[in-house]
Order: sequence, then C-alpha cells, then structure tokens
Amino acid sequence: MFNHLNAIPPDPILGLIAAYAKDPNPKKIDLGIGVYRDELGNTPILDCVKQAEKIHYDTQTTKTYLGPPGVTGFNSAITEVIFGADSDAIQQGRICTIQTPGGCAALRVAGDLLQVAKPEAEIWASDPTWANHLALFSAAGISMNSYPYFDAENSSLRFDEMVNALQQRGPDDIVLFHACCHNPCGVSPNPDQWQILADMAAERGFTPMIDIAYMGFERGIAEDALAVRLFTEKCPEVIVASSCSKNFAMYQDRVGAISIVAENAQKASDIESVINNVTRKNYSMPPAHGPHVIDTILHSDELTTLWISEVAGMRNRINGLRKTMTEKIVASGIQTDFSFLERQSGMFSFMGLSVEQVHRLRDEFAIYTVNSARVNVASFNESNMGYFIEALAVVLDE
Ligand code: LMR
Repeated sequence: MFNHLNAIPPDPILGLIAAYAKDPNPKKIDLGIGVYRDELGNTPILDCVKQAEKIHYDTQTTKTYLGPPGVTGFNSAITEVIFGADSDAIQQGRICTIQTPGGCAALRVAGDLLQVAKPEAEIWASDPTWANHLALFSAAGISMNSYPYFDAENSSLRFDEMVNALQQRGPDDIVLFHACCHNPCGVSPNPDQWQILADMAAERGFTPMIDIAYMGFERGIAEDALAVRLFTEKCPEVIVASSCSKNFAMYQDRVGAISIVAENAQKASDIESVINNVTRKNYSMPPAHGPHVIDTILHSDELTTLWISEVAGMRNRINGLRKTMTEKIVASGIQTDFSFLERQSGMFSFMGLSVEQVHRLRDEFAIYTVNSARVNVASFNESNMGYFIEALAVVLDE
C-alpha cells in the first residue's frame, strides 16, 4: 500500500524549527516561523491566559463531548471581538461562527465549504500570499489565482494594479485578503484603501474572504478588524477565517474560527449546519481547552482589559524593534535602504535577499529565515540585533 511513497521535504516554514533546534551555534537566531518572542527570546504564556486557565481548571466539571460547534460562548464572544459588539450583522443574526482547530483549519473548512457550495469558484489571493494558503485551498480542490500586491522594488503596495485586477473579478470569484500584518510582506492597505476595496466588492459582486490571523498586531484590536467590518457592512456574503494563535499566544492549543456572514439569519443557520456536516466528516468536533480559556477571558471585564494591554505590549515591542533595527542598520554604514522595516507592520517583512544570501546567513551565521528572506521581526532583541546586522553586511558585501 505505501511502499511507493517517497519522503516529502518538510514544510519550508515548519522545517526550520527542527533545523534551528539542531544547530549548536550559541549565536543562532530563528527568524523563521511567526511566533512572538520577548526580549529574552521566549514566547511567554499571557497572564490573562494563565489566570483564565486556573479558573477553568478549578470550575470545569466534565470533559464530555460538546458537539460540532464546540464552545458556543467562545463562538459568540470572538464574533463580537472581530465584527464589533454593535455590529448590525450580529444583531440581524446574519453571522455564524464555529470554532476550528486553529486558523489553518478555519481556512481549510472554508475551502471545504466552497467545495460543497460552488466547486468551480476560484480564489484570488495576493501575490505573494502565505504559502500555506495555496496548499490548503488546493487540497480542498479549489483553484487558486493571484492579483498584484507587493512591489518588491519599493517594498510597498501595488494598490492601483491591485484595484485594476480586482475590477475584473465577479460573482463566481472569492478574493482573499489579509486583514492586517500581511504575511509574508508586512504591507497592508490603509483605511481609505480598504474602503475602496469594500465598495468594489459590493459593486463587482465577488465574495471577500478575510484571513485575520494577527488581529491587534498592526494598529489595535478593533482597528485591525476594519477590513472585516467594512466588507460586512457592504457585502451580502463574507467569509472570515480567524486565529487566536498570535493574539492570545495560544499557538499549540490550536484555536481559530470560521465565520460566515450570510444574506439573512435563516441562511446563516443553514450554512452553519453545512459547516457542521463538513467538519463531522473530518475532525468531528474541535478541541475545547483553548476556546474555554478564551471564553473565560472574554466574559471577564478584568481579564479582557488585561488581554488588551498584553496585546498592546506585543504590538508596541514589535513596532519598537522595527524602528531600532532601521536606525541600527543606518548607523552600521550599510547603504542598502531598509527603512521600509519601520513603515511596515506586524511580524513579517521581506529583507530583499537572494536565496544564496539566505543560505549564507544560515550556513555561515546560523541565522534562519525562509528562502524568500521573510524575517520574523519579533525574533530580534537587543542582544542579537548587532550580530544580525554584521551578518547582513557580510552577505550584502557592504
Ligand atoms: C507563519 O507564517 O510563520 C505562521 O503563520 C505559522 C505557520 O503555520 O506557518
């Protein structure tokens, strides 16, 4: 049965975790996978999560099955966080949200739902997009295309070209957007540009699908949900895949959600039943620990306030690192312009290095990035920045 199978190379992002772990170099830096790190290089458990876990541990009385929608308190609370507690669509019952095992599963469930609803539909994603978008939707049997997005020469958004391309899209198309902190390039539309894109979706009739995996890491929790809220205001149907991996730092607990904004409450309820049917045939029902903990946080004013401040702490640290890194690169005498680091936001930026330069960073300096030279800015700290800049100067030959 299996003898004809050959080994597949590890995922380009996940594979770096193992390669980095094996490297004995004490100066090694992991700029690969997108996890937040503090000044000591750790990915701490948030205080709000620790406190909520304790409450949950002390009060949980059973671990019996919950059924396909999982923790319903989490589903409604995260819907309010993403869409806004005063959302008309929530009041009208037009949104169904179902927790999923992480943001990846939310995207995969979206693909499976499209496969049931309209298998011939095509997804249009930014060029570039997160590599796993292509893998996830293709695995669900949905065709993928791209629209212009990142201008590598100027490290900026190709907004006019993006608009021209999306003007060609129509009711058979899904257009995938990153709500904030674009992965991998760190460049997002500004609020006026989101308004233009939402108007265009309404006019052209394409269905927006929004991946919101870094809510709170760009401008603020509500601010980073602007795209979701504008599309929901303007469009009859919207698909939203959310993740709590980064903003609750619950990476390994796998907490995410799929939300569908439907034309009316009856349709939202019908779609929810289809999603429950799709997931039953896959993982049956989602894990409950993470969502119980987040449910506890979001139903406590005190823990919610703590959460908001902890997210702000992570965001401000990353923005500070972007500024310091830009200044230190200039001070080092490197002539190549890296000022975009400060203009971009979120965990990721492209350093504009060739694959050969990326490999030199890895082989000669034990600095790990994916081949595209996407770096996780959150991995920098006062102690490793100087070493990184020295290595950068060597591979740039400056
Ligand atoms: C990343 O892009 O590094 C993160 O989204 C983690 C992942 O699963 O790839």
